[in-house]
Amino acid sequence: MPADYDKQSYWRDRFTSEKSFEWLLPSADFIRIVEPQLLSLRPEARILHIGIGTSDLQNHFRARGYSNVLNVDYEPLAVDRGRELEKQSFGDVKMRYGVHDATQLDIGQREKFDLVIDKSTVDAISCAGKDPLRRMVAGVRDCLAPGGVWVSLSYSESRFDLEGLPFDVEVLNKTLTPKLKPTDPDVYHWTYLLRPKRDASGMPGSS
Ligand SMILES: C[S@@+](CC[C@H](N)C(=O)[O-])C[C@H]1O[C@@H](n2cnc3c(N)ncnc32)[C@H](O)[C@@H]1O
Repeated sequence: MPADYDKQSYWRDRFTSEKSFEWLLPSADFIRIVEPQLLSLRPEARILHIGIGTSDLQNHFRARGYSNVLNVDYEPLAVDRGRELEKQSFGDVKMRYGVHDATQLDIGQREKFDLVIDKSTVDAISCAGKDPLRRMVAGVRDCLAPGGVWVSLSYSESRFDLEGLPFDVEVLNKTLTPKLKPTDPDVYHWTYLLRPKRDASGMPGSS
């Protein structure tokens, strides 16, 4: 990804004209990968969706009966578009939307979530290096309720190779991307399941 993907000005320019775009995977495909996690949750489960862009992923949550979703992006145009997309599909807005910078998340001080999800937001943030990603990791950890997990989609096979990561990482799915020629190498998109690490007492540790 070019370095600009971490800059809010890049996304503001882009969302001035872009009204609908899905990074890495269509939401309909991604939600199928996430389905096992969703099915383990009650309908009133608290979901935090970070870096919504102009994706319609939030509508797939609502269509499956999960409306207690907080959708955030640091670019207000994305947040406005998220609301519009929900209204277009359902006729009203039940989910919540907010402007938040994922590298400075303080939401965890006010509320906790059973599932945190991002679809390639980790990739955009990583364009500025590992420190912003580390800050996102700490913020997400702080947002998770006991038993909560983070599901993250990335193009990178090594996205969470971070020293001191406060999560155990499992690959939930690797999706082979389409090839232009049969001889092209295999390239995958990676869906990670991150569970807070347990400390020596067996309790999920603090980050
Ligand atoms: C690669 S796009 C993914 C958009 C959407 N999730 C999708 O799958 O189509 C990255 C998104 O993350 C947002 N973003 C980038 N850095 C962010 C940050 N520090 N805090 C919150 N959102 C951020 C951008 O505004 C953009 O909407």
